[in-house]
Amino acid sequence: MEQLSIEEAAASEMKLVEFLIKSSKLSSEYLSEAERTLIARENGKAVGCLALEKMGKKVYLQSLAVIKEKRRQGIGRALINIAFDGYVNKGEIVIALTLFWNNKFYRTLGFRKLNARKVKKADEIAGRAKHKYCVAFGKIKK
Ligand SMILES: CC(C)(COP(=O)(O)OP(=O)(O)OC[C@H]1O[C@@H](n2cnc3c(N)ncnc32)[C@H](O)[C@@H]1OP(=O)(O)O)[C@@H](O)C(=O)NCCC(=O)NCCS
Repeated sequence: MEQLSIEEAAASEMKLVEFLIKSSKLSSEYLSEAERTLIARENGKAVGCLALEKMGKKVYLQSLAVIKEKRRQGIGRALINIAFDGYVNKGEIVIALTLFWNNKFYRTLGFRKLNARKVKKADEIAGRAKHKYCVAFGKIKK
């Protein structure tokens, strides 16, 4: 049985996080703006990461990536659950701007679809050019 651990990334691990993000063909342009960054490891090997960026009561899933050969094994779900339980306060909304093929993933995790146009108009994180073709999902911490 593979042992999964999820921990906050140390400052010295940001290159590794960047590598994980880029390996999943995501942009790491705003990684330095992230407030929390988690790394998932399986038996010590980095297999995924998640970076959170805050704007008022909104917590953006800035980057979420699981390496290709380890997808569909619950690692993405575990990263979101740990972030949601540990780093999001009551009443805050977690927002993901993502491409439509991740719809099922976010719905499965209890996110609901938001009005993407409205979300993108609301602040500069959501309004970034890289989100131009993204749909939006949100989940409120109760
Ligand atoms: C999106 C991503 C992070 C999901 O990570 P993951 O570890 O594969 O997801 P999980 O195994 O935790 O999936 C949880 C559930 O979501 C759903 N799901 C996940 N990926 C799916 C897919 N490609 N198609 C359909 N359903 C999917 C399934 O219901 C899954 O549960 P199941 O496998 O028991 O059926 C991963 O595919 C990835 O890194 N993609 C590339 C980068 C990216 O698009 N990131 C999101 C940017 S916002």
